[in-house]
Amino acid sequence: MGGNMPRVGVFVCHCGVNIGGVIDVPEVVNYAKTLPDVVYADRNLYTCASDGIDSIKEAIKKHNLDRVVVASCTPRTHEPLFRATCEEAGLNKYLFEMASIRELCSWVHAGDPERATEKAKDIVRMAVAKARLLEPQEELEIDVEPSSLIIGGGVAGITAATCLANQGFRVYLIEKELELGGMLRKLHKIFPTQQDASELLKEAIGNLKAHKNITTLTSTVVKDVEGYIGNYRVTVQRKDGKNGELKVGTIIVATGAENFEPMEMYGYRKYENVITQLELEQLFRSGELGRPDRIVMIQCVGAREKEGMAYCSRICCMTAIKNALNIKELYQDTDVYILYRDLQTYGKEYGEYQWKAKEKNIKFIKYVPERPPEVIPQTNGKLTVKIYNVSINEEIKIKDCDLTVLSTPLIQHQAGKELSPILKVPLGSDLFFFEAHYKLRPIDFATDGIYVCGTAHGSKTISESITQACAAASRVAIPMAKKHVRSEAITAQVNEEACIGCGLCEYVCPYGAAELVRKPEGKWVSKINEIMCKGCGDCAVICPAVAIEMRHFKEEQILAQIGTSFLFPAEGEFEPKILVFACNWCSYAGADLAGVSRIQYPPNVRLIRVMCSGRVDPLFVFKAFRSGIDGVLITGCHPGECHYVSGNLWAEARYEVVKSWMEKIGMKPERLRLAWISASEGAKFASVIKDMVADMKKLGPSSLTRSLTEGGIR
Ligand code: FES
Repeated sequence: MGGNMPRVGVFVCHCGVNIGGVIDVPEVVNYAKTLPDVVYADRNLYTCASDGIDSIKEAIKKHNLDRVVVASCTPRTHEPLFRATCEEAGLNKYLFEMASIRELCSWVHAGDPERATEKAKDIVRMAVAKARLLEPQEELEIDVEPSSLIIGGGVAGITAATCLANQGFRVYLIEKELELGGMLRKLHKIFPTQQDASELLKEAIGNLKAHKNITTLTSTVVKDVEGYIGNYRVTVQRKDGKNGELKVGTIIVATGAENFEPMEMYGYRKYENVITQLELEQLFRSGELGRPDRIVMIQCVGAREKEGMAYCSRICCMTAIKNALNIKELYQDTDVYILYRDLQTYGKEYGEYQWKAKEKNIKFIKYVPERPPEVIPQTNGKLTVKIYNVSINEEIKIKDCDLTVLSTPLIQHQAGKELSPILKVPLGSDLFFFEAHYKLRPIDFATDGIYVCGTAHGSKTISESITQACAAASRVAIPMAKKHVRSEAITAQVNEEACIGCGLCEYVCPYGAAELVRKPEGKWVSKINEIMCKGCGDCAVICPAVAIEMRHFKEEQILAQIGTSFLFPAEGEFEPKILVFACNWCSYAGADLAGVSRIQYPPNVRLIRVMCSGRVDPLFVFKAFRSGIDGVLITGCHPGECHYVSGNLWAEARYEVVKSWMEKIGMKPERLRLAWISASEGAKFASVIKDMVADMKKLGPSSLTRSLTEGGIR
């Protein structure tokens, strides 16, 4: 099909009046016909309706089209439909490109049809420039072994294992301790139901052990993991040092957490009657509490202040109330004080629990972190707790305390920290396991086939851990039930001739997809595991030998878009030309939302979609400036929300470097901007654009623009 030169077909959509009511669609079609390699252009009232789809299929066959451009709405919603259309007509779906002239044009420039039409032509020209260079791609289909490894035998691991086994999947559950149960083994009762923790655990372990689909290995740890979704080979080691291998399709991390030991805080480990809440639970369980007359509990010990533990542990307030009620249940006359910074008893059930505690005469006193409580030993072995009570603006002393109980946060344990590099999954700044996306993929890791649940992911109540474990089991079941997964063909490719074996790609890849291998002739080269590669482009940008290319987002394709983004105006008032790079997942969606919300902004911008802000090569920025563009805006997900873990952080680091280069060559660094814009920040997208246009107007044409020859660059 098609001979040597591409044969591009362009289909421009009226989208009823959504596009056609603002943009002169016939003019855009006529313009498209003049573009290089465009052999066919037409318009439809609704290109996504069945007659529009049929017209694309017919044109592909009749005009021997080997590239298709649809100029209509956003690719985030309609690209799959048009790709499928191309496939049905016998065209590889990666030979399709979309030009968004609705969300990025007619909806946001409704008051200026003339400039909106000019911009629509530019958007179509950019899409055709990329389409001419598109290549067919093949997606990989991977078989998935229908078995799962659950790491961690606490309540989350047991729940996930049982849920999966109930669906008929083979499950291996490994636990580093001799006994199952994790933290639940150490608890007395569970809030807010006051159910006996041992009863719940007994039932959960009973269900697990009775299940024929579950193999449980205790005193066992993970030593090594190789492979990818569907095909993980896991080396496990037993306490006796013997190794074994498990072959599984998916993995769930349910390794739990541990309680922070507040060494030397408030006299812990110095005075024997200063203990933690967890130790109090053990006293309840063993019946060794005795009959205390007065107990003081201190909240937020070690939490919300220290480096690495700057977080609220979420469960400590409820734990303190639960244990205070347990004491009152045993000994009605015991005085119980809870010294708190802020009480987190959210929701109806927990709120009522707090009221119940107040009814039982448990006393709550607020303190401020600047004046924390002080624990002073008495000669009779009891303790005095000194506290500045903010409510009455007075320091008070609670004397003759038999016990001081410290509420301490949950923290990541050593085993979790060791597991992170083995699985190649990240820990967050709080050192808990870090999910792929806070809102969109809260159970998944960025690495396909590995999921997380329970307190390994952060502090949680028992019921939240169980809920998340059920969710993880459901996520894991999807690829295992399908028995295969397809990986999108947007992956990195290495030119081994050019590769210098520096290993930087291996260093930046958040998925462990790149590794150096030795060729038979002795040369070290990078090898990309295309199943593990997610297509962020970090490796392509960092490669000093330009030996890595991203399929479907190749350098030459993006450069072609940049070079065709604006026609150089010969005369007239200065209107700044601004090029925006937007990551597919957040900022492009933010731009779409500005469109859907009809937020108007100046039509001075052209936008290039990349998978991640980390794909923006400094070369692209300088190409833009050399093409006569006055300002470049790089946009991406907020820190911590990048869909490729760390792509936006690399983008930020490069941004600083490029600005310093600009300064050195006499360019104003303000011409380059970076903005974090989420999918829900349509208004922010529009306002960043407005500000940038206004600022570029003040700055005037860039020095590189002025030096360009008249007529400019197409
Ligand atoms: Fe948005 Fe990486 S995916 S910045």
